[in-house]
Amino acid sequence: MKTDMMAQTPPMGWNSWNTFFDQYDEKLIFDTADAMVEQGLLAAGYEYLIIDDCWSMRERDAAGKLVPNPEKFPGGIKAVADYVHSKGLKFGIYSCCGVRTCAGYPGSFEHEFSDAAQFAGWGVDYLKYDNCYRPRTMTSSMLYRRMSMALRQSGRDILLAACQWGTEDVHQWIRSSGAHTFRSTIDIQDAWKSIEAIASSQMENQCFNGPGCFNDMDMLVVGMYGKGLNPETSIGGCSDEEYQTHFALWAMMNSPLIIGCDIRNMSEKTKEILTNPDIIALNQDPECRSCYRIDVYGNPDTFVLVKPLSDGNYALGFFNFSDVAAKVSLDFWDMGLSCAFGQGMRFHDCFTHEDMGIQKEFFAPTVASHGCRVYRCSIAED
Ligand code: GLA
Repeated sequence: MKTDMMAQTPPMGWNSWNTFFDQYDEKLIFDTADAMVEQGLLAAGYEYLIIDDCWSMRERDAAGKLVPNPEKFPGGIKAVADYVHSKGLKFGIYSCCGVRTCAGYPGSFEHEFSDAAQFAGWGVDYLKYDNCYRPRTMTSSMLYRRMSMALRQSGRDILLAACQWGTEDVHQWIRSSGAHTFRSTIDIQDAWKSIEAIASSQMENQCFNGPGCFNDMDMLVVGMYGKGLNPETSIGGCSDEEYQTHFALWAMMNSPLIIGCDIRNMSEKTKEILTNPDIIALNQDPECRSCYRIDVYGNPDTFVLVKPLSDGNYALGFFNFSDVAAKVSLDFWDMGLSCAFGQGMRFHDCFTHEDMGIQKEFFAPTVASHGCRVYRCSIAED
């Protein structure tokens, strides 16, 4: 039976897919677990280490059980989970609600209860559950409900990450299925255009975020620099400015923060972006309020995101999606601050970590192309 309240804030972790595709094994996972601790990622909040598609054999065994690929995982999956747990991390695995996974390995369709029991026996804490090869007679809602039920019955707390891609109005029914996160877009690519398209398409899903179930905008491509082995994902890479904007968007929009780069060899800048405590605090704020968007007059490629925080502060993100630097201007009355009240906003810069004093009536930072400025603000008097 389920015992813990899971996903009270967006889950944070690392997943093998973006960088390693089908090319990973036990050693890579052990080294990644070590790196999660040594690089300070666990301390920053990244607790799940998740292996994605391609971990099993192409067929089930005679008893209908999933079989780990012995070349990749000679010690089996339990040994991997044990190692991950010994580092203070949690362990995640992947399956699919259809007859096959997206890469053609056995899916969990009509094996849900037996697979959930197998995962629980291995010590799995998180299941990414995909949406490929689903029999047309079965709705996605039925199959996610079924796996949720199987996991809740498995005797272990296993977070269900529904990789549903935003079809069948998933936001309408996913929370009631029992799942903890839901993918709402096609797969991310390591390119600015993909980041921009996903962020722009997800504003309307903000109201469906909240403790217990979050809109998953897909795994982070921060720090990949076009070097991943996954040909679908790695299509060019981004600049550090763009990766920083990507991270700030996902954080402010309450998406799970699941790292997709090779964390054994992160650049200093990648590590700085991914472990920025001021930005992570916005994502992990206990109230999990959604943000809203204020458009900037005359420049549709610039906007401000406003997210109320549980301590009474506000997160303000000034974003510039255009190809040239731009002033992004916010009049405080557009977020409800009455001029007659006579108060301004005290700004703390979430990138430089400096307090900047009080701004009155408006604030208009110049923001680099594809860049952002993010602040934690409180209402204040001079
Ligand atoms: C789908 C998912 C991806 C990844 C692959 C694995 O495309 O959306 O995140 O899990 O399947 O095959």
